[in-house]
Amino acid sequence: MSGRERIDSAEVRAIDLFVHELVVGLVLLDVCAPETDDVQMHVATLAHRLRQVLADEKSRTLALELSENEIWHEHRPLVGASLQAGALLRLCHERRVATLGFAAGLTPDEILRFLLLLRSPSDLWAFHPNHLAKVLESRGLRHVHVLLRGQEPPDAAGGAEAARRPALRRYQAMADYLQRSHAEAVHGHELDTAIAKGLVEQALEDMDREPSSLLSLATYDDVDTFTVGHSVRVALLALHVARAAGASRGQQLRIGTAALLHDVGKSRIPNQILFKQGRLSREERAVMMQHARFGAEILLEQKGLDPSAIGAAYCHHMGPQGHGYPGPVLPFEPSGVSKLVRVCDVFEALTAVRPYKRALSPLEAYTVMFRMEHGFDPAWLEFFVKSVGLYPDGTRVRIDGDREAVVVGQGENPTKPRLRLLDSGAEVSLTEPIDGRMRKIQQVLS
Ligand SMILES: [Fe+2]
Repeated sequence: MSGRERIDSAEVRAIDLFVHELVVGLVLLDVCAPETDDVQMHVATLAHRLRQVLADEKSRTLALELSENEIWHEHRPLVGASLQAGALLRLCHERRVATLGFAAGLTPDEILRFLLLLRSPSDLWAFHPNHLAKVLESRGLRHVHVLLRGQEPPDAAGGAEAARRPALRRYQAMADYLQRSHAEAVHGHELDTAIAKGLVEQALEDMDREPSSLLSLATYDDVDTFTVGHSVRVALLALHVARAAGASRGQQLRIGTAALLHDVGKSRIPNQILFKQGRLSREERAVMMQHARFGAEILLEQKGLDPSAIGAAYCHHMGPQGHGYPGPVLPFEPSGVSKLVRVCDVFEALTAVRPYKRALSPLEAYTVMFRMEHGFDPAWLEFFVKSVGLYPDGTRVRIDGDREAVVVGQGENPTKPRLRLLDSGAEVSLTEPIDGRMRKIQQVLS
């Protein structure tokens, strides 16, 4: 990788983080009043992130171009940042916002006023071309620049976005649902679990049509301080494994719903701990560990939910004999759904990028998982490794001969998955020659 590419990827990462914090800011305003410490600290973080993006250059502006389902920067899609940005994109789309610009000098207070303006249904009128400039000025939003559709150059979104769009919409809908559920649970409201089941049903239909499309989104570096991306990815992994195991449609639905909701108890964890960047102290970890019990309590209150979801929320940090937390009074064995969700949960956590750690490769994650004391149900862990493999479906790779491809299936040999070549669209297996030669995977592309 050249020096310039390194700078680019660091800059893209900083922009991803800024966009993600904008999304979290909108969610926080669903659960906290603007004057609370949580919100005030968050907008200060956002202002700090912007300074990092702009590298303290006083004349610069970060411009984000918005299509209906993706956020772009300088004509490049920010796929990772878009995955959880459903609410931000929807608000901007409804208001015909095509470009958002954030200029150097943006203050925390300005960010807060802009987020409040953007999310307020009674301020929809402000986004009319005749009013917008005046409204931004009257609200002191000097460092926020908004271009509406019709005021900007033609849409830059090309064929690649069109190809990603259905899966992206599905992923965003799941992340969006979890963000909304988090807010509902904070307020003690009932969750709409029928929506969760509907989303899992639609995800299964997508997987029937194109098995690797949704999982390929799970391989993007999705900045995820909010953990909803984690739950979406756990659900996609669980569905993938359940399908490979030949589970019935009804079982797949129950497994996917349980996986999607397994961390709902995190809504009762204080934001300072939930959003903490870095390792938790021993006391903070003890608080965090309560999310399993809280999750089961929240789900017990819901009507029409299969009990397997309650079990998975309660047991997903327990080993196959019930070791781990929350320690039950009497010993018992978690259900098969709980055991599968646990495997997917730990694998996802190990292979995801977190602010304080790098992502492990699947091979490294399996090594850690096989060594964990009281770890996993051995049958589920073995089946997981076989069906997810060393190069999970959706992973983008480069093979020798300098061709790029995406993994579309696993075979007997975990180093030789089935691939779709990106240049020709042909499906090939690495167990057979390609263009007259046996080929190997040279690099996993991020
Ligand atoms: Fe958890």
